[in-house]
Amino acid sequence: MPQKIIIDTDPGIDDAMAILFALKAPELEVVGLTTIYGNVHTDLATQNALRLVELAHRPDIPVAHGADLPLVTPLKQVAHHVHGVDGFGNTNQPPPRGKPIDPSAAQFIVEMVMAQPGEITLVSTGPLTNLALALALEPRLIEAVAGVVLMGGAAFVNGNVTPAAEANIYKDPHAADVVFTAGWPLTMVGLDVTTKIVMTSDYIADLRSAGTRTTHFIDTINPFYMTYYCQTYHGLNGMHVHDPAAIAYVVDPSLFATLSAPVRVITDGIATGLTLPDCHQDWDIPNGWTDQPLAQICIDVDAARLLNLYRSYITRPD
Ligand code: RIB
Ligand code: CA
Repeated sequence: MPQKIIIDTDPGIDDAMAILFALKAPELEVVGLTTIYGNVHTDLATQNALRLVELAHRPDIPVAHGADLPLVTPLKQVAHHVHGVDGFGNTNQPPPRGKPIDPSAAQFIVEMVMAQPGEITLVSTGPLTNLALALALEPRLIEAVAGVVLMGGAAFVNGNVTPAAEANIYKDPHAADVVFTAGWPLTMVGLDVTTKIVMTSDYIADLRSAGTRTTHFIDTINPFYMTYYCQTYHGLNGMHVHDPAAIAYVVDPSLFATLSAPVRVITDGIATGLTLPDCHQDWDIPNGWTDQPLAQICIDVDAARLLNLYRSYITRPD
């Protein structure tokens, strides 16, 4: 049976590449998209999520509008410089025909997970506000969810918005600390591994040669994102593959090496958004990590095998 997932997302170019990947993966059944601010504001994230399910001929997949603001901190600048003002590389995609469902993202997550306990994995590729709000609505999610896999954080490497913080965590550090300390089965797919996965222009051209609507769309929205990465990360000759890595983990966890440790998120000061694991765990004096649940932290990845998997799935006929 395919693994049911809800993708919480801020599409976003790499979010789009992740969602289209998930929709092609026979191991997965996408039962809903929930939207959040981050790369763009939540309204546009919702429109883009609707565009994606319609592009994939899956208008049946519900899209639920998420939080417009973080739990505590003010809304930070959205990532227009990385994803374009429209979130799709300033490519002016036609408007979607569909509308989001009435329940909020948090309500949708609670309804779906509690109706199918043990069946649904939450895959987050944006800030974690919706997951924290869903937990506040229904604390029993902790036992009912099959798992939580999030693209976010940086355990043993620098961040990408500050030296401390990765973007998804930085934009709602309070929600992230709630998610990391909730006690549900949680896997962090952070910059430790996503910066090891690089899609080059040749790789994207190879995808394009499949000649499908999906690969044409990815080829169309990609240049803006690729230009940002090549200009920002001199010598990279490609782009970091963040959100598709979280989907790849659900498809095939053997692609990754992990370690287990409690993770806390720093919520104020110069290191706001830092995801700090406790790899010692044997302190004389209790601290903020003591007795906190373990998270699975991805620390290495077989990037070549992941890219081959991505290519084999995303080039499948539409
Ligand atoms: O730091 C990378 C993450 O932030 C990705 O999810 C990207 O889409 C942005 O949301
Ligand atoms: Ca994202």
